[in-house]
Amino acid sequence: MLNNSKWISYPTKQDYTCPVFKKNFTFSKEIKKATLKITSLGCYYAELNGDRIGDFILAPGWTYYKRTQMQEYDITSMLKSENEIRVTLASGWFNGRINIRTRKELPDVYPALICEIEIIYKDNSRKYIYSDENWECALSKITFSDIYDGESYDATYEEKFIPVKVQDYGEFKIVKQQGEIVKEQEIIFPKSIFKTPKGETVIDFGQNMTGYFEISLDAKKGDKVSFSVAEVLDKDGNFYTENYRSAKAKFDYICANGHQVYKPKLCFWGFRYIRVDKFPCEITKDNIKAIVLHSDIKRTGYLNSSSPLLNKLFSNIIWGQKGNFLDVPTDCPQRDERLGWTGDAQVFIKTASYNYNVEKFFDKWLEDLRLEQQREGRIPFCIPQVHDRPGSSTAVWSDASTICPWQIYLTYANKKILARQFKSMCDYIAEIGRITKEKYLWYGCWHFGDWLGLDAPAGSYKGSSNPDIIATIFYAYSVSLVIKAGKVLGKNVSKYEKLYEKILEKGRERFTEFNTQTECVIALYFDFAKDKKAVADKLANMIIENGKKLKTGFVGTPYLLHALSENGYTELAYDLLLQEEFPSWLYSVKQGATTIWEHWDGVNDKGEFWSRDMNSFNHYAFGSVADWVYGVACGIKTVEEKPGFEEIIIAPKPTKKLKWLSAKIETKYGTVSSAWFNEGGKFRYEITTPSPTTIIIDGKEMRVEKGSYVF
Ligand code: BGC
Repeated sequence: MLNNSKWISYPTKQDYTCPVFKKNFTFSKEIKKATLKITSLGCYYAELNGDRIGDFILAPGWTYYKRTQMQEYDITSMLKSENEIRVTLASGWFNGRINIRTRKELPDVYPALICEIEIIYKDNSRKYIYSDENWECALSKITFSDIYDGESYDATYEEKFIPVKVQDYGEFKIVKQQGEIVKEQEIIFPKSIFKTPKGETVIDFGQNMTGYFEISLDAKKGDKVSFSVAEVLDKDGNFYTENYRSAKAKFDYICANGHQVYKPKLCFWGFRYIRVDKFPCEITKDNIKAIVLHSDIKRTGYLNSSSPLLNKLFSNIIWGQKGNFLDVPTDCPQRDERLGWTGDAQVFIKTASYNYNVEKFFDKWLEDLRLEQQREGRIPFCIPQVHDRPGSSTAVWSDASTICPWQIYLTYANKKILARQFKSMCDYIAEIGRITKEKYLWYGCWHFGDWLGLDAPAGSYKGSSNPDIIATIFYAYSVSLVIKAGKVLGKNVSKYEKLYEKILEKGRERFTEFNTQTECVIALYFDFAKDKKAVADKLANMIIENGKKLKTGFVGTPYLLHALSENGYTELAYDLLLQEEFPSWLYSVKQGATTIWEHWDGVNDKGEFWSRDMNSFNHYAFGSVADWVYGVACGIKTVEEKPGFEEIIIAPKPTKKLKWLSAKIETKYGTVSSAWFNEGGKFRYEITTPSPTTIIIDGKEMRVEKGSYVF
């Protein structure tokens, strides 16, 4: 691809200053079609005759560093008799501050561009314009750009064009666009502008989000605009940025003369509030609007209930997904991380795949996971890998390699992705076998553990669940997924079936007691516990003794309500879901959250912050509870033998604690919905299904064809 074009860059390496490249061209005959094919190392912003080309923000996206996606744009209608194409580049994800790995491994690689314009004339003859030594470049008006630190733009700066440098970057593979593109999705107008107790001017958009903003103002040449962003205010109502850690997350703009409208082009922020550090006049709501960015995934899932607090939680889960599905599934969008943490993606993927159509989004990310996987089978902590060391495989995080392809198969029946990932899944299992200190267990290795579990010893992020129990149970689970995937793909899986039996046998022999909420949850959910009744009773007692409150972290939380409702404790599951006191999902809602917090105790009931160094207010992981609402409370389940909702099971489990609850998922067969209404102690169910379905109500099974039903 782009075989006749050359990689071009600015002659000297620019770390944070953005070069712009340009080429003028004309044509002689009537045009049928003109196409731009383009990609870059770093992020690009392309314009033709002053207009933006395409609507992919932060193109070409973020992939395994040795491959880059190429975009194709139809530019026919943008052409004039004389044309100027301009492309501005920023280090972006490729070698901005976010990417320790490329900064270390590839210190001599510059942000660079490669492209081709193909013009097809009406007589079918063709003209090509390639990126090559005949292009010119300059340092652009974007005088600083970094994903973590923000953007500076100088509208008064005059660009001085010089010849480009041609680079030999053949080692970077150019591939077709594979993922969803990131686009501007919605506009949010300021809710209020106010002065904090410290006297600072702050704009509140009323919603924590990911994106940027557009300013519009009249100014004199040299006037300055300067903004800082924040997710929350502190307990005194002052602007709080310490949880951004080293990410400066700033915006600085030097004005030209007259009226001007500007929005940043090559970076993004996670924010709800903007502090106006400098503005040429008193800022008003007319001067600014926020623009939400996320991957162009289509909304498919909707939850609704009679409880306003629960509805706010559902909304926060959606906003958590919007905020963190920005080309890759990230942990958070604001501080100096914003990384494709495998564990977070794995924990949330089921919910994510009901809320939105994420099939294409995960197609790309899983391809990168496969490519990043080390020769020995090791799955790095983050995909794309940005750390200088990939880290060893760790339970729950590296299990993204088996859990994610399987979930994409269940939700969308995508066998192609499963087939492509199958070797990666098997290699991962082999890697566990090599690194464990004891065969048939995953034993004695380093893990993140039940990350952010509330039973963590003081000063630690790791809940007190035994990491060897977690690792061994997930080892068995991942092997079970390899078996299922292998069967779907017609492979011989007898080796894995034996391995699974051995892990269960040895694991059950070794781990006979489950002493934390998370240990009990996973022992139940993954069918590891021999005496499930005893473990379920123990879990229920632990929760009740704790005031009907949870203690689970990343590992236990996604399965907590499932483990309870599958073992006779559905009402207790509802108690946890509807709990309003700390720690609970609705606690953060009552504290004013508009997204999902990283910590149960991000803000305590005195209004103090949990910590400054690990306290994101937009971390989707605990939002994984939505899959229980879709799949258990409303009861919409996929069928493994007929995935992608070709057949469905609907088995709602209602509660009298709510007046009504409803779930709806748009599948490729049509919309499936399940709602129940508590009518004076009796339940009425309204079910619509696009596929043959088994409806189970109060243990009574009914087989129905597609249609709408009331019970
Ligand atoms: C991230 C998490 C991630 C974790 C690894 C954190 O810094 O924000 O969400 O999974 O590291 O334990």
